[in-house]
Amino acid sequence: MQDSSELLGHRYRFVPATGAGQSAASRPALLLLHGTGGDEADLLPLGELLLPGAPLLSPRGTVSEHGAPRFFRRLAPGVFDVEDLVQRTHALADFVQAAVERHGVADRPVVAVGYSNGANIAASLLLLRPGLLAGAVLWRAMVPLEPEPLPDLTGTPVLLGAARFDPLIPNDDVERLAALLRESGASVALRWHDTGHGLTQDDVREAAAWLATRWTEEESTR
Ligand code: MLT
Repeated sequence: MQDSSELLGHRYRFVPATGAGQSAASRPALLLLHGTGGDEADLLPLGELLLPGAPLLSPRGTVSEHGAPRFFRRLAPGVFDVEDLVQRTHALADFVQAAVERHGVADRPVVAVGYSNGANIAASLLLLRPGLLAGAVLWRAMVPLEPEPLPDLTGTPVLLGAARFDPLIPNDDVERLAALLRESGASVALRWHDTGHGLTQDDVREAAAWLATRWTEEESTR
């Protein structure tokens, strides 16, 4: 595996697209966003499973919480430093725009796949930088912030993979995030799983199928 690179203060890995043909060329780039304590290598194997052949962009969170990388500061579990979140959301969005240019994939849609803290900043990207993401898979996300006015996310597909027995995220919070995104015009699929905060095989299978029906239609109907 290649070493991490650095751009606009973000350490990251980029895996180029593989495969030939028009459908491969129009496949989105996946923006992979790890959970607290993860890093830029964490989600690469999952990215390859989720949308085979897609280019992968995987940054490391720029905050260190006692050595654990995160994408923004928190004051306590589930209590976010909103000022820091806003600033780092814009910094991450600027990084994504620069990175897709650097790696020659700026013509592709960018779809975020985030887990936990990574899902929370992906939700914040949707809410604060509409137009950046063509869609998102949010595993174990909660409401990161509530912007006013709400952005226009008309038709943006979002898969929310939620867990009924998640000790970190009240079910109400997930419902509120779904409502916020729907009110913004996003096309939200909220899927509940009888499990906890950890990611499961079901989450991955579900997300792969959801991505395939939206972004590899040409091949899946063959
Ligand atoms: C967060 O801080 O983003 C959420 O509480 C999830 C986590 O990272 O534990």
